[in-house]
Amino acid sequence: MTTRANPRTETAPMAVIERLVELACLAPSVHNTQPWRWEYDGRAITLRADPDRRLVTSDPRGRNLTISCGAALHHLRFAAQALGWEPVVEHLPPGDETVLARVFVARTAHHPPLPADIELMRARCTDRRRFTAWPVPEDQLAALCRIATAWTVDAVAVTDNADRFRLELLANQALTALEIDPERLEEQESWIDRPGDEGIPSDLLPDHPDPLHPRGRFRLGVLEDTRLVIHSGDRVIALGAGSDDVGSWLRVGEALSALWLEATRAGMSVVPMTQPIEVESTRREIGRTLLAGAFEPLLLVRVGWQVIGRRALPRTARRPLDEVLSR
Ligand SMILES: Cc1cc2nc3c(=O)[nH]c(=O)nc-3n(C[C@H](O)[C@H](O)[C@H](O)COP(=O)(O)O)c2cc1C
Repeated sequence: MTTRANPRTETAPMAVIERLVELACLAPSVHNTQPWRWEYDGRAITLRADPDRRLVTSDPRGRNLTISCGAALHHLRFAAQALGWEPVVEHLPPGDETVLARVFVARTAHHPPLPADIELMRARCTDRRRFTAWPVPEDQLAALCRIATAWTVDAVAVTDNADRFRLELLANQALTALEIDPERLEEQESWIDRPGDEGIPSDLLPDHPDPLHPRGRFRLGVLEDTRLVIHSGDRVIALGAGSDDVGSWLRVGEALSALWLEATRAGMSVVPMTQPIEVESTRREIGRTLLAGAFEPLLLVRVGWQVIGRRALPRTARRPLDEVLSR
């Protein structure tokens, strides 16, 4: 069957392509590595992962790298719609294994732009300050899970107190495993206060571990096990899929972006929590006990509310367009 081009089809001009890629790059990425490359050949925008930006120690298979690219892919699609275009996305097109997706941007009819959606992309950020004690109600958590599952991934909110405590224990175990691994610590540290337009400024991180004294020095005072205190406003959503592979990671990234933008619209705060997934033993345990083997856990996110009227956080930097887009 041959498909005839619609004579009324308008393809997006270069200025629109550039704006879309710029907005796509506002997406969250692990350690703000921005591990993506975009190419425009006059027909489609191609998205590839940038292997040089993979966290070789903590992300050997590129799971978080691909999730980050999936989030950028969803941002591109969302931006296209917000600017009144009709994006068509092809995942993992056959023929070139390094291509994650191809996006065709055109339109056959006039769609009014949605400036509030562009503002939403600019407003979204990772706010790691403590959430208020008021938990996100279960119906709102369920709505966020539905947004995620629309991207053919699995999503479950951990609401049961016993499960939540079990998860905290596993997160604590994972953190301990990571803290005693000097290579991982060094890798993490190398993305903090990095010169240039990448990485995370330390101002945005609560008491990040000191690589020389990861466990702190002995201090006088009352011994308090602060790590195992679960703050009542903290809710967790587990995202995953039937398999732990590139296609699933890409879709989880899209789901993460969709969930995060809608959470931002509703005034909620989202913070990914990757350590218990990065450590394979705790990841398996989460799948086995908390999810009863229903799906492979691929990403955890904490969801809560920030205190109203808190000052806006400074934004993490993004690399210039010429570094990430070839045309
Ligand atoms: C796959 C993935 C994993 C992430 N893991 C963590 C994490 O474990 N802890 C954390 O505080 N932030 C995490 N983040 C958030 C990033 O650090 C953040 O998106 C990045 O620094 C850019 O900042 P922004 O989200 O404010 O734009 C993760 C983001 C992604 C996409």
